[in-house]
Amino acid sequence: MGDLIARRLDELTADAHAAFFAWIEGMSAGQDREDGPAFAAWLREHGAIPGDATWVFYDAASGALLGTASLIRRDRTLLAPVGGWVLGGVNVVAAARGQGVGAAIMRWIDGELRRRAAAQGRPVRVLLQADNPVAVHLYAGFGYRPVEGISGVYAANYAPEPHAAPG
Ligand SMILES: CC(C)(COP(=O)(O)OP(=O)(O)OC[C@H]1O[C@@H](n2cnc3c(N)ncnc32)[C@H](O)[C@@H]1OP(=O)(O)O)[C@@H](O)C(=O)NCCC(=O)NCCS
Repeated sequence: MGDLIARRLDELTADAHAAFFAWIEGMSAGQDREDGPAFAAWLREHGAIPGDATWVFYDAASGALLGTASLIRRDRTLLAPVGGWVLGGVNVVAAARGQGVGAAIMRWIDGELRRRAAAQGRPVRVLLQADNPVAVHLYAGFGYRPVEGISGVYAANYAPEPHAAPG
């Protein structure tokens, strides 16, 4: 797995935006654990909510689309803790799974959350929902632990990055 480039969904060119949504719309429950049109509607809904952010990840060398992830305040019934976030919409293109892309996306998200924690001057708590055992394993490696009493919900705390660049 080479380097990743992260782009905000709302800052993509029209062509890149269309290619991203073509990938999302084509997802299926069997292959991607997502209903494509429903996931697209979810992304558009969160795109209209101030503060919610979706990133699209590309291979730095080839420019190939690799995956996506979102930090939002609310994922259906799951509400972010005060000052925290919900991590949702994590998905890697089927052809690139099992090659470290998910872990690379989580390292990028980890850095983003540490920058946010530094900006706030206190730890940031993040919740997510997961039932895919591969995803649960991936998240566990980044400190996500089951939330007692809420099946399928995991939480992690991000400390401020000591040497984080501003922004
Ligand atoms: C879950 C998902 C994001 C993981 O991304 P990925 O790029 O395949 O994961 P990685 O290659 O970075 O592997 C992460 C870890 O999972 C393990 N893993 C990956 N694929 C696996 C598989 N098929 N079976 C068992 N373990 C697997 C890796 O060995 C690695 O573990 P390690 O850190 O102990 O070495 C990706 O498989 C995906 O998009 N799945 C469909 C959508 C989904 O379920 N999203 C999560 C919503 S909560």
